[in-house]
Amino acid sequence: MENNRSSWGSNLGFLLAAIGSAVGLGNIWGFPYKMGKSGGFTFLLVYLLLAVFVGMIIMVSELAIGRKTKLSPIDAYKKVSAKFAWIGWMATIAPFLIMSFYSVLGGYCLQYIALNMTKLSFGNGAVAMSGSEIFGAMLTTPLGCVVFTALFIFLCMAIVQGGVSSGIEKFNKIGMPALFVMLLIIIVRSLTLPNAVEGLKFMFVPGYAVKAQFIEKAPNLITVLGTAGGQMFFSLSLAMGAILTYGSYLSKEENLVRNSVIIVISDTLIAIMAGIAVIPAAVANGIANGTPVGQIKLSGPNLLFVTLQDVFSNMGSLGPLFGVIFYALVLIAAISSAISLMEAIAAHWIDMDIQKGENDTRKQRVLTVSLLILFEAVIVAWDGLGSNFSPASLLGISDPPTFLDCFLDFMDCWSEGIAMPLGAMLMALMIGWEKSPELVLDEVAHGDPSEGFKKFYRICIKFVVPVVMAFVLAGQMIDFFGGPQIVWYIVSVVALVVFFCLSFFQPHAEK
Ligand code: TRP
Repeated sequence: MENNRSSWGSNLGFLLAAIGSAVGLGNIWGFPYKMGKSGGFTFLLVYLLLAVFVGMIIMVSELAIGRKTKLSPIDAYKKVSAKFAWIGWMATIAPFLIMSFYSVLGGYCLQYIALNMTKLSFGNGAVAMSGSEIFGAMLTTPLGCVVFTALFIFLCMAIVQGGVSSGIEKFNKIGMPALFVMLLIIIVRSLTLPNAVEGLKFMFVPGYAVKAQFIEKAPNLITVLGTAGGQMFFSLSLAMGAILTYGSYLSKEENLVRNSVIIVISDTLIAIMAGIAVIPAAVANGIANGTPVGQIKLSGPNLLFVTLQDVFSNMGSLGPLFGVIFYALVLIAAISSAISLMEAIAAHWIDMDIQKGENDTRKQRVLTVSLLILFEAVIVAWDGLGSNFSPASLLGISDPPTFLDCFLDFMDCWSEGIAMPLGAMLMALMIGWEKSPELVLDEVAHGDPSEGFKKFYRICIKFVVPVVMAFVLAGQMIDFFGGPQIVWYIVSVVALVVFFCLSFFQPHAEK
């Protein structure tokens, strides 16, 4: 039966696909800004420590569980754990929710590519609006957003329908090197703008964000820990079934630890490079137009679709060309992440069919998943980041917490905010306490990890990961729900203790 399951053509193909999954919007609009705001080099250091002690550990674990079971998340967790089988459902619903806004953002990229192509053909005067006017006009034209969202979903669908090695792997083998080259082009252009160095200072110099009045006071270490942890998880595509699914197509010969190290390093490197590509350009352009550094919008949709569009519009006749290159780069990053999300969702049903002896239902299953995604994405596309309506406006709430601001935040809250940290915490407890770390280490052993790594792994999965995830969970709830911070710390610690007891005590174990 297993013979009919897909597999990667090569380890390099797998690596590029996994890096493709990891490198996405998070790297471009999240990392550089969070790094700047949360302490520059200090943040980078915390991020790297977390990546080594937590990110890599979860990455190895997900790959190992995927490869060991050769199943999609839902079935893999069912097979591994009696108590935590439902993590598999969480790891399938979360990517589904992420897709609701990821595809809308992908649709925006398509529209911005078209926009810059128009400018390229007819000159900058063709669309003589500011970035914020363009963005506002786009958001308040919901039908256009829906159409381009559908187009984005269709592109991803076509790739995933192509299969693991001849669809996903092939796309990444071309897309990832292309993305890298485009990124280098944008970096060179960005760093040669006057005052670009101020942008570098924002990113790297601790305390600069406060001095430039970007923020009032430096965040405390716990906040930084939460921010860095959340960002790291999202950026590495962890705890959402995607990496597990990709691992399930990997051959037994490959070294999981080495692969994880390569993925983590590449993702972080590209996040830093993306920062060097966008932040100096954004800051330089802001300064040239007399905007104080503290008021330049450097994160989220505004960075991508307002601040940077202004950069390209103000760059002269070659601006639109850089615009096309940049938005195409973001599009590739978005597609390569979205296809891993789509695959993680569809794999369950494809596996089920294979077990029933039906081997070519991939196209049909992926189509169904795509239609479901389109359905939820229409809501996110239509609300226009809250410009047209929002969960808060529908509920009649006037001063809403972040998660009700718009449907993007709403979907993001349940997936990135809750399911992701909780899923990772549960996974670590399941491996570390319900089962045993050897579950993963035996699978890794096909690539022969050293004794040192084994010791390191056991300590991290049992102690470090669950505790850090509790902080990340608290951090996310503070961001999304607001209210007194202490409440969310208590909620997280209670969750940690309850789930620890659940995994530690084995009522049916033999005496
Ligand atoms: N890693 C992607 C990014 O940085 C987004 C993402 C989060 C993701 N979780 C995922 C992608 C799970 C694929 C699978 O933007």
